[in-house]
Amino acid sequence: MTIPIPAEDPRHVPNMAVIDPSAITENTRAMGTLLEEHTALMAVVKADGYGHGMLTAARAAIEGGATWLGVAHPASALALARAGLDAQILTWLYEPHTARTVLPEVLGSGVDVAVGSPEMLELVSEAARQADRRARVHLKIDTGMGRGGVLPWQIREIGAAMREDDFIQVTAAWTHLTSADDPEDPATDQQVELFDSACEALADEVGPIPLQHIANSAATLTRPDLHRDIVRPGIALYGYPPVPTDVPLRPAMTLTSRLALVKELPEGHSIGYGRIRTTERPTRVGLVPMGYADGLHRVASDQVDVLVRTDSGDRLAPQVGRISMDQIVIDLGPDSTAVAGDQVYLFGDAGGAPNDPPAATADHWARAGGTIPYEVLTSVSGRVTRKVLS
Ligand SMILES: Cc1ncc(COP(=O)(O)O)c(C=O)c1O
Repeated sequence: MTIPIPAEDPRHVPNMAVIDPSAITENTRAMGTLLEEHTALMAVVKADGYGHGMLTAARAAIEGGATWLGVAHPASALALARAGLDAQILTWLYEPHTARTVLPEVLGSGVDVAVGSPEMLELVSEAARQADRRARVHLKIDTGMGRGGVLPWQIREIGAAMREDDFIQVTAAWTHLTSADDPEDPATDQQVELFDSACEALADEVGPIPLQHIANSAATLTRPDLHRDIVRPGIALYGYPPVPTDVPLRPAMTLTSRLALVKELPEGHSIGYGRIRTTERPTRVGLVPMGYADGLHRVASDQVDVLVRTDSGDRLAPQVGRISMDQIVIDLGPDSTAVAGDQVYLFGDAGGAPNDPPAATADHWARAGGTIPYEVLTSVSGRVTRKVLS
């Protein structure tokens, strides 16, 4: 058995990811307004709820109308099942060792499992026999992702195998889109065409397929024709729509710290490893005790303005120099009244007065780091305390 590394005592850590579950609830509700009555919403809460805390995210999404929860790992599904939440759970990513050790209990808990290869079908069938319970299977069809999923020309064979297995109950057919965040990309329609003909072939083998699901956040927002029986939004529920939208969505995570020190640097003084930044004038700099080990990507160095709450109001201050493992430096400006202990908002909702500047968002950090907000949110590391607002 492995033992988790003890977390630092959260009372002694200045860095906090403040999670607002009401944002997740309202975002879920807002996404739900796009759906026809017969379409259910599966809140994707994998990767610890995109860094927000899986159970927190799951409960908040259910309050907002989600009736399904989706996670990659069976271990996450088990944790959700044990929490006794009022939602059907789907898990889709496992290898043989995990399947043999965890899937019997997962199936015994009433969780649905995805099957994306003949080998996975065998593992699920074996686990179902052990659990003495029919497995509710969502057959994953690979229509272009090239990851998990049965290829269209394997459908008939796997369909026949499922039909002949008393421990397998075909519950759904599903696929995952490669390019839904670019509504102009013809790849989405090509994938849907492949999916639909694969579903026809599958239905020939197993009879009517009870459920179909395709849409992630982007397709939920832009392609009502792809909503089918269930939609599977993730990132939009956390407040970061991957496509422009009028649907009101707000970020659920605010990343904060406190100034560890403030000091004056003369003109021409270098800052940080590699001296990528030198002061152009005498200025006051603030040291923030948060770095790449907390989730601020080093590649995003020297590009994002952070917000500092000083006694003379909220001020934006550029992060300057390379991001270190545990710390960054921000340029407060020569006239700043900031002092050590002042609150710093790296991204999210600083809750300032209407005329105060807003804090950066995970989108700003993503652009600076050449990545996507998904990665920014899920990179906030375990040593950052999560504070859940009530
Ligand atoms: C299978 C599956 N469905 C749905 C989602 C949700 O995607 P998004 O966060 O873009 O809405 C993901 C996340 O990557 C996923 O892996």
